[in-house]
Amino acid sequence: MTTQEFIGKENFNIHTQTVSESCPSNIALIKYWGKYKDQIPANPSISYTLNHCKTNTSMEFVADESFSVQTFLAGSEEVKFAEKIEKYFRNIEQYLPWILKGRYIIRTENTFPHSSGIASSASGFGAIAKCLMKLDEMFAGKISEEKSLRKASFLARLGSGSACRSLYNGLIVWGQTEEVQGSSDLFAVPYPDAEIHEVFKRFNDWVLLIHEGQKSVSSTVGHGLMNTNPYAERRFQEARENFIPMKEILRSGDMEGFIKLVEHEALTLHAMMMMSDPAFILMKTGTLAVINTIWDFRQKTGLPLFFTLDAGANVHLLFPSNGSEEQIKDFIETELLQHTQKNGVVKDVMEF
Ligand code: PMV
Repeated sequence: MTTQEFIGKENFNIHTQTVSESCPSNIALIKYWGKYKDQIPANPSISYTLNHCKTNTSMEFVADESFSVQTFLAGSEEVKFAEKIEKYFRNIEQYLPWILKGRYIIRTENTFPHSSGIASSASGFGAIAKCLMKLDEMFAGKISEEKSLRKASFLARLGSGSACRSLYNGLIVWGQTEEVQGSSDLFAVPYPDAEIHEVFKRFNDWVLLIHEGQKSVSSTVGHGLMNTNPYAERRFQEARENFIPMKEILRSGDMEGFIKLVEHEALTLHAMMMMSDPAFILMKTGTLAVINTIWDFRQKTGLPLFFTLDAGANVHLLFPSNGSEEQIKDFIETELLQHTQKNGVVKDVMEF
């Protein structure tokens, strides 16, 4: 697969237009950390798309005016974000040849708190890519829904890598792997539904807000640190290898295997940052307390409560929606919430 199929048509017909779209965030189970030129991932990744944590975006395009971008985040003007989007639009011109032929006013808001560590760049670029494809349909003509989604995923990737996985609901793969047919480094694809055990189709993700504030390492810096990390190649290889057990786990419903693999991936991501130069420790005291309390709880009860982490201190608590759900929720409220800064928790689900 090459980028050729995404090159835009030169014959288009622009006019002033406003479009709106919404896109959820996602949480990776096998992590993407490290990339090559043009946002090509160093290894394949797989994520759950969240159901409630979304970005809602409206894009006003004023045709035939000189190119400029103005952005508003929850009503307040954001100049830095506008500069980022301007650069992004210039970068994707070959795929949408009309894109620099007007002025944009972009209004965006998240349904989740900014400080939650929930990937707003994933939902944000996902929503922008969907808006762009809506405009493209009006200006350059309709293409099939499948092709349009794939191109939205391709475009979102060029904004923020993990955003390409947010275009689809369910379990989503980005990055070429022999284990998933049709997978690509250029865009994400849904993991085949027929190969997913029912137990993985209704899951909870409760995000504990351990530390609210700016992340100490941006993902751009974080990916860059992998270029000099002496363990990087082994890590990329491990992520590729992890698709083999993951496939079998998803097919058979092996919860124990799933827990072990997902927690290992999260800890590996953080270990990579600890072994980078400069080193980063992104966990806080509360993160460690939560992890130890979860391990204790699992040992005592055998119930399937486990965690994953993004590049930050907050903890994503994962547990299936089945018989033990209420007991797990009670435990979170009574034992884990105390480790957050302000009793902060964002409750989401994955259902498909
Ligand atoms: O899409 P980026 O460049 O923000 O990278 C995201 C990386 C992680 O969230 C840490 C892992 C992942 O696969 O989503």
